[in-house]
Amino acid sequence: MVLPGIVRVIEGDARRLPGIEPGSVELVVTSPPYPMIPQWDGLFRTLGATSFAAMHALLGEAWVAAHRVLCEGGILAVNIGDALRTGPDGFRLWPNHAEVLARAEAAGFRPLPYLLWQKPTNRPNAYLGSGFLPPNAYVTLDCEFILLFRKGAPRRLPPKDPRRLAARYSRAERDRWFSQLWQDVRAARQRAENGGRTGAFPPELPRRLVRMFSLEGETVLDPFAGTGTTLWAARELGRNAIGVERDPALAAELRKRAAGAAAR
Ligand SMILES: C[S@@+](CC[C@H](N)C(=O)[O-])C[C@H]1O[C@@H](n2cnc3c(N)ncnc32)[C@H](O)[C@@H]1O
Repeated sequence: MVLPGIVRVIEGDARRLPGIEPGSVELVVTSPPYPMIPQWDGLFRTLGATSFAAMHALLGEAWVAAHRVLCEGGILAVNIGDALRTGPDGFRLWPNHAEVLARAEAAGFRPLPYLLWQKPTNRPNAYLGSGFLPPNAYVTLDCEFILLFRKGAPRRLPPKDPRRLAARYSRAERDRWFSQLWQDVRAARQRAENGGRTGAFPPELPRRLVRMFSLEGETVLDPFAGTGTTLWAARELGRNAIGVERDPALAAELRKRAAGAAAR
């Protein structure tokens, strides 16, 4: 039987990670605000970033902080989607995944093979551009990235570590989870909160990542906690969880839910 983990909520900034000891986290699973997506324009403006580069410079500080709090061999998993936007030069792609890859590597992480999460769409024939006439139609952006990184060399665990044996995945799980394209995870329903949408990801994403890259009793951090999807998944899998969230209302809601869960 898995004992639920402890959830700690910190109202604070992902770029600082206040109160989290260096080297104390085994896994980071997160999804930051996506640059060049209108939903997050206001937040980036508040933080003084209006250009693509400035937005990623801000996120880059969060990857530096994540590197500091991860243990040697710890894993960073970042869910991010690219953006499309028409600017003064016309319509173009803003490759968020490429910026996160480059900046996390600059923060000291080793990039690992990544996952592509294909979001099932209920508009299979959706297209952008000129429809049936070449050459000006655009490919639909229906995949998001789950970028994977490690801090330093792989972790060394004692042979036959019972926690590791207990965390074993089945052959079917391994075949599904470690193939690069995930097509079987439905997108989450969005909740309206604080006058905006939180951009929550579906619980199956952190559930898989927590089982793939951590052991029971270890610590999982989400520095952009939002509605806490990572925290609740980690808790139910017997991992301790830390959520950092800068929005006071969301942080209060997370704290309330964590206290309720601890009392049960
Ligand atoms: C894409 S949402 C995360 C959604 C989350 N995965 C979930 O399932 O609910 C990004 C979150 O990061 C928060 N955020 C933005 N900038 C932050 C910062 N500098 N430090 C901490 N949290 C931040 C936002 O308030 C938002 O809740």
